[in-house]
Amino acid sequence: MPDAASRDLIEFRVEERVAVLTLQREEKLNALSTAMEAELLAALQGDDVANSRCLVFTGAGKAFSAGADINEFRDADAESIAAYYRATGDVYERIAALPIPTIGAIHGWCLGGAFEMALAFDFRIADETATFGLPEVQLGIIPSSGGTHRIVRMLGPAKAKELMLLGRRFDAQEAEELGLLTEVVPAGEHLDRAMDIARELAELPPLAVQTAKQAADLMPEASREAGILIERLAYAALAQTTEAKDAVENFTRRDRRP
Ligand code: COA
Repeated sequence: MPDAASRDLIEFRVEERVAVLTLQREEKLNALSTAMEAELLAALQGDDVANSRCLVFTGAGKAFSAGADINEFRDADAESIAAYYRATGDVYERIAALPIPTIGAIHGWCLGGAFEMALAFDFRIADETATFGLPEVQLGIIPSSGGTHRIVRMLGPAKAKELMLLGRRFDAQEAEELGLLTEVVPAGEHLDRAMDIARELAELPPLAVQTAKQAADLMPEASREAGILIERLAYAALAQTTEAKDAVENFTRRDRRP
């Protein structure tokens, strides 16, 4: 059953088991307001996402997003910030914790909280116009939507400190060289390419895809022994599933073809 939450700031649609979520606040370069985060949360909790095989995020207009709405955190005190994380500020962690794979289709600005959101996706496809950056320190704060943790994990502390402290903007080519992107595509092709990958993921055995994603996310936290055990238990469980048996059967049948 599609959820009936209001969707003024995002657009949500499902095409062939691929859900597509578009940030839609073009006049503010899709700045992530708490109202937009609330709409994102409601969409993520709906049955449409649960029944999809992959979720693609993109931005309408000139940018993916220029980051957190700077007007909202101007006079925030400690209590209101704690309340923010209880209300909508956890949406970035909810995105990261989705069992289905997520893909960011990124163009134009991808700054601050938007870059942090992008780091929470499993795949990032950027077009040549994409510009990344973490301006938080320049604003007297730090990336606090999971971004500090993720960028250090992905790049190591030295590079992460360079990007966070100096806050310089960098283009898609540099982001790819750093290993932050799945692919860079010509201007305007980011969503088409993301949809191609999403459809490819949607064709795969879903339990295996979701287990592989979750196992990969857990490995940096796990000891080698625990990691190996996760692999073996996941294999033992997945091998019993109808989807695994069907996949092996289809594969063998394909092999027998002349
Ligand atoms: N929060 C709230 N509003 C924002 C915003 C943000 N993060 N980023 C852009 N906007 C608004 C602008 O205020 C402007 O609104 P207005 O037309 O009502 O004045 C509109 O979006 C267009 O932005 P503008 O600055 O005119 O576009 P630009 O092309 O000249 O510059 C940026 C684009 C991204 C360089 C610039 O908007 C910017 O630096 N934004 C803030 C980025 C940031 O610090 N984000 C991280 C917050 S943690």
